Amino acid sequence: MDLDQTISALHSAFVAQLDRASTLEAIEAVRVEALGRKGKLSEISKNFGKLPPEERKTAGARLNQVKQDLEARLEARKADLQSTALDAQLESEWLDLTAPAPGPRPGSLHPVTQVQREIEDLFVSLGFTVLDGPEVETEFYNFDALNIPADHPARDMQDTFWLKDGRLLRTHTSPVQVRGLEKLGPPLKMIAPGRVFRNEEVDPSHEHTFYQLEGMMVDRDVSVAHLIYFMKTLLSAVFHRDVTVRLRPGFFPFVEPGFELDIQCIICAGKGCPVCKQSGWVELLPCGLVNPAVLRYSGVDPEQWNGFAFGLGLTRLAMMRYGIDDIRLFSSGDLRFLRQF
Ligand code: FA5
Repeated sequence: MDLDQTISALHSAFVAQLDRASTLEAIEAVRVEALGRKGKLSEISKNFGKLPPEERKTAGARLNQVKQDLEARLEARKADLQSTALDAQLESEWLDLTAPAPGPRPGSLHPVTQVQREIEDLFVSLGFTVLDGPEVETEFYNFDALNIPADHPARDMQDTFWLKDGRLLRTHTSPVQVRGLEKLGPPLKMIAPGRVFRNEEVDPSHEHTFYQLEGMMVDRDVSVAHLIYFMKTLLSAVFHRDVTVRLRPGFFPFVEPGFELDIQCIICAGKGCPVCKQSGWVELLPCGLVNPAVLRYSGVDPEQWNGFAFGLGLTRLAMMRYGIDDIRLFSSGDLRFLRQF
C-alpha cells in the first residue's frame, strides 16, 4: 500500500468511526486518535522527511485535505448530537406557561365535624337550640351541680386535668345542661356539642381528648318515651339504616332513671374486636330523665318541670359511622386518613 492509499484508508476508517459515535465523548476520542499530536495522521507526517520532494508535496497536500475534511466532519457531528440532546431536553422539560395555575387543593371537614353538623341540622329541624360551653370549667358546673359532690365515687370515673386555680378541663358536655337552664330557663330543648378531656389510658376506643354531644329537653310531663323517640330518630338519621342497639340500666348521678344505649359494634358486626373490647357492643349514648337535684341547682322547680338528657359519644359515633377501627386516627393529623372524608 503506498502512502496515498494509507491516508485514504485511514480517512475512510475515521469517517466510519465518526458515523458510529453517538456521544460527545466518542467524538472526542475519534478526534484524539485521528488529529491529536500523537494521532495516526501526525505519525504519518513525521515520516515525510524521508520522502522525495515531489512525493512529499503531494502527500502533504493530501494529508491536509484529509485533516480538514475530518475536522469539518467532527464539528458537524458534534453540532448534530448537541442539537438532538437539546431537542430531547426541551421535550422532557416542556412547560406550558399559558396553562392556568392548578389553584389551591380543596380541603374537607374533619369526619367528626361532618357528623356533628349533620346532628346539629337534625336537632335544629326538631326545634332544638345549639349551645356552647367553656372547655375550661369550674368544679361546680362539671361536678357539684350535676349532683356529683366532692366525695362521690362517680368523680373517680371521670379523672381529668386540673388547673392551679381550681378549675378543670371539662370531662363531659353535661355542664352545659346547667348553664343552658340558668341562661334560658324552661321549657328548653338544646344540644351542646364539644370537646371534652379525660386523664385516661389511650387505646383503640379511648382518647384523652374527644367529642361529645349533650342533649336535653325540659318541659312538662317529659317521659322515657320521648327520650327513646329522639334517640331512635338520631340513630336512623346518622346511619341511614337499621342498627342493632340495646338499652340497659346505667348509673349517672344526674339522671334518674339512667340508661346506657349501646350500639352493636360495626367494626366486627358484634363478633368481638379491640374496638368493643371483644364484647360486641360499643357504649355510645348514656341517657336518662334529668335528676330533680340538677333542676334545683339550675334554678328550675322540679315540681313544675322535668326532662330527659343524653350524652352522645360523638367521636365514637363517627368511628361507627365510617367503620374506623382506631380512635387515635382522628387526631393523628395523618393526611392519608383525613383525605378520605
Ligand atoms: C358521660 O360523660 C355523661 N355525661 C353522659 C350522660 C349525659 C349521661 C346525660 C346521662 C345524661 P360517659 O362517661 O359514659 O358519660 O361518656 C359518654 C360517652 O362518651 C360514652 O358512651 C362514649 O361513647 C364516650 N366516651 C367516654 N369516654 C371516652 C373516651 N375516653 N374516648 C372516646 N369516647 C369516650
